[in-house]
Amino acid sequence: MRLDDRLQAVADFVPSGCRVADIGTDHAYLAIELYKNDSSRFVIAADKNAGPCDAARRTIREAGLADAIEVRQGDGLGALKAGEVNTVCIAGMGGKLIADILEAQPEIFDGLEYAVLQPQNAALYLRQWLYEHGWHIEDERLSKADGRIYQIMLARPGETAMPGQLELFAGPVILRRRQELFSEYIKGLIEGQERIAAGLRQASSYSAADGLSRVTEQIIKLKELLTV
Ligand SMILES: C[S@@+](CC[C@H](N)C(=O)[O-])C[C@H]1O[C@@H](n2cnc3c(N)ncnc32)[C@H](O)[C@@H]1O
Repeated sequence: MRLDDRLQAVADFVPSGCRVADIGTDHAYLAIELYKNDSSRFVIAADKNAGPCDAARRTIREAGLADAIEVRQGDGLGALKAGEVNTVCIAGMGGKLIADILEAQPEIFDGLEYAVLQPQNAALYLRQWLYEHGWHIEDERLSKADGRIYQIMLARPGETAMPGQLELFAGPVILRRRQELFSEYIKGLIEGQERIAAGLRQASSYSAADGLSRVTEQIIKLKELLTV
């Protein structure tokens, strides 16, 4: 089994030898890869729902790893005991849900050293939440799978200054690193903002006008990134 580039990018950020939980594991592909790649890792595969837990158990059994990877059904970090893991992966969920999951169990969150996060949307919300809670983005990567570009973050505890709106929106490390997919990624962000601007132009309220001026400003800044 080979992970797609999105989940592989998540796996690549997980430190060797760590104690890691894959929260929202679904099929458990990531959890299996994390163990196969480094059997010194302690790996838990957790999911809120029974169907995904059954699927995870099946895939893990077929991989011959039933004794190595435990599957747990539970809501977010609630599937874990305090101090049991120092790393979590949360991939394929909305950024707001990921932040809610991190926030819901402070006794587990406070014991974490690494969080590898791949939000499907609302990346700005998630980044801002991390910085507001004394964490920061240590590393970031773009990855393309099925024609879509994903943002993958390695977050760690430790306060640093809150990045500006553009950095929170597009990713502070992504903006610094400008990897291969950078132009395509920024163009996608511009298209998204232009769709929002078109919707706001249809509305006539004061707040829509205010929103439109902010979105327009964001579009200008994003376009500038493509000219540097
Ligand atoms: C779209 S799948 C993502 C699967 C995998 N992480 C990936 O990226 O390919 C989302 C999974 O998260 C699970 N999930 C949703 N909310 C959850 C929560 N609060 N706690 C744990 N798992 C959750 C769902 O049951 C589902 O299996």
